[in-house]
Amino acid sequence: MIFWISLIITIKIERMSKAIKKNTIQLKFDSARVYEPALESKSAAKIKPVYDLFINGKFEKPLSKKYFNTINPASEEILSSVAMAGKADVNKAVLAARNAYERTWKKMPAAERAKYIYRIARMIQEKAREFAIIETLDGGKPIRESRDFDVPTAANHFFYYAGWADKLEYAFPNRKAMPLGVAGQIIPWNFPLLMAAWKIAPALATGNTVVLKPAETTPLTALKLAEIIQEADLPPGVVNIITGAGATGADMVNHPDINKIAFTGSTAVGKIIQRAIAGTNKKATLELGGKAANIIFDDAPLDQAVEGVINGIFFNQGHVCCAGSRLYVQESVYEQVIQKLKDRMETLIVGNPMDKNTDVGAINSREQLATIQRYIKLGNQEGAEMYQSACALPKKGFFCKPTIFTNVAQSNRIAQEEIFGPVLAIQSFRTDDEVIEKANNTAFGLSAGIWTDKGSKIFNLTSKMRAGVVWANTYNKFDPTSPFGGYKESGYGREGGLHGLFPYVKLV
Ligand code: NAI
Ligand code: MG
Repeated sequence: MIFWISLIITIKIERMSKAIKKNTIQLKFDSARVYEPALESKSAAKIKPVYDLFINGKFEKPLSKKYFNTINPASEEILSSVAMAGKADVNKAVLAARNAYERTWKKMPAAERAKYIYRIARMIQEKAREFAIIETLDGGKPIRESRDFDVPTAANHFFYYAGWADKLEYAFPNRKAMPLGVAGQIIPWNFPLLMAAWKIAPALATGNTVVLKPAETTPLTALKLAEIIQEADLPPGVVNIITGAGATGADMVNHPDINKIAFTGSTAVGKIIQRAIAGTNKKATLELGGKAANIIFDDAPLDQAVEGVINGIFFNQGHVCCAGSRLYVQESVYEQVIQKLKDRMETLIVGNPMDKNTDVGAINSREQLATIQRYIKLGNQEGAEMYQSACALPKKGFFCKPTIFTNVAQSNRIAQEEIFGPVLAIQSFRTDDEVIEKANNTAFGLSAGIWTDKGSKIFNLTSKMRAGVVWANTYNKFDPTSPFGGYKESGYGREGGLHGLFPYVKLV
């Protein structure tokens, strides 16, 4: 007996020492475990078969008479038919917002405005489960993320800015903060409810009225928010929510009676907007794309760092403007990190977003899946080495395997362009100066991550990185009190925190 035990121990020690010599200890995650499905119930959410435009406090049929479908990207089933706002509808919504601004909202005492914003926050919390289900069905993100991140963070944003509404004199001492008027807000499909909150909350807190357009693939939580706004008795016209595609957004951008454009989306559309408003009095904030560097130094706690890399690139299928889509690993721990990363990827559960076990859900649309697949093909053509987790993908719906590329060159397009999917480009580095140069060698500048045991290294890098947000020993952390925004082609203006009030006021 003792002989057998000591033999097993000897064999194990031998294997370990071989692995240590190779510097690649394999992590055991018990990936053989099969989880029983734990499906969230669709029936706990009410989705109407048809949605009209929310203008002046009422749902109204579009003057365009047109509708389009929004589908569930995980099943390709139609969820609802949604109004397509044309030019006349945009005019109607802007007029409603203008009237509400002049007649009620700008005159209302700030403390009264705050009450409405608090009410919206509380109502989002009350309907949190329904919001999470609709967000997941309409956009494909895992229910765990909608439930634990998107919805609570959206409610927090309203709570936070409700608090500022009657304290603007403290935000801007010795100045008077005047609202701008009507804000036109155009949001993307990756965090639909959360982006609506980021846009609407500071606008209302500072006394502006709003016309908001959600993205065409994910309009449903914004329309649910419209129902809440109606129920909260917000004065009609203070928030108008109109649905449509790029043309509707362009009509908003070009509308002469909109005072401010707030846009989150692609850099390409951001450039179109910037050209369109040049020479006008419109103010703008543009939150655009990113290609963040996540940097692991050899003194970092590697298991934590790998967890941060996984979160950085596979959270929300990589549809994240601040995704850590470039990984830089210091050469002495390179092999070890890559092995740990591959091991961890094998444990990711990819599939039905409504399953509470799922880590990586559906790609938001057929078009986005095609874009991601184009980049994966390109990465292979450029000579990088691909590794994908071995998971099986569902037959129906739009899915993509978690993917990493090693042997990537700085000039490769997969290292330069925003892919907006679960695809990571990995490179190694030797010195601090080298990695700073590589990390900054990008057209973008939204975010970055640093993993190291040394505070001095963190301070050195954060001061030299051209990125709006730099996370140290963590990644993708959001708080309404903290400003967020970019440099260079990642856009301009800040959202969140005290800084997020600036773009909605003129100081006199
Ligand atoms: P997009 O920028 O076209 O869409 C974002 C929003 O802008 C949507 O509401 C859309 O209807 C609206 N829009 C489109 N054209 C417009 C125009 N000319 N004027 C005003 N509004 C307009 O993004 P898309 O095409 O859905 O995604 C393409 C790529 O953009 C993605 O692969 C990703 O790289 C990037 N993207 C980045 C986002 C971010 O948060 N940084 C969010 C969404 C997309
Ligand atoms: Mg949809």
